[in-house]
Amino acid sequence: MKGKPAWPGGPAPTRLLGLGHDIVSVEPFAQQLAEPGSRMRDLFSPREQRQCAERSRFKGDSEAVHLSARWAGKESVVKAWSAALGPRPAPYTLDDFPWAGIEILDDSRSRPGVYLADEVRDRLCSSLELTAAPIWRISLSHDGGLASAAAALVVW
Ligand SMILES: CC(C)(COP(=O)(O)OP(=O)(O)OC[C@H]1O[C@@H](n2cnc3c(N)ncnc32)[C@H](O)[C@@H]1OP(=O)(O)O)[C@@H](O)C(=O)NCCC(=O)NCCS
Repeated sequence: MKGKPAWPGGPAPTRLLGLGHDIVSVEPFAQQLAEPGSRMRDLFSPREQRQCAERSRFKGDSEAVHLSARWAGKESVVKAWSAALGPRPAPYTLDDFPWAGIEILDDSRSRPGVYLADEVRDRLCSSLELTAAPIWRISLSHDGGLASAAAALVVW
């Protein structure tokens, strides 16, 4: 294979801008979700909530497990974004972050992806001075009362 390009037409010019990782304890997260008047669910889009309910039915476990994994996913995305910013200013604070505008959704083969609302994607591009939207890669896991995620932000 020596000398053969790893990508049709030559090597793909990829660059890792940022990496994020997060772990969530499922039980405390579930308790917060169940608190009367809790607004935790508002952090997830209707599509995310629907998909987590479906995953819970399919796997025979709690919905909180799947929401915890997606919460870890959102935090991972924010960390990767923050890492990519370097010395540039952050466009959002933790108080005004549009959490439901960062959707973590599985495809038809259960592979998770990151889907940004238009406004969030625009802020991402402008905050990083990018002319085209970067690409997200994400992986989720949950086991033994913990959920975790890792996200990478890449440009081609
Ligand atoms: C991929 C695989 C190992 C995941 O195992 P798992 O025990 O469900 O994984 P974890 O419990 O650690 O994590 C679960 C999360 O993994 C993610 N996931 C599930 N299947 C996935 C897949 N095929 N690819 C990437 N991520 C996947 C989901 O986000 C899931 O979260 P959810 O249940 O809340 O939707 C398992 O689904 C598998 O063996 N799949 C068949 C083989 C396969 O996919 N082959 C393709 C590569 S050769």
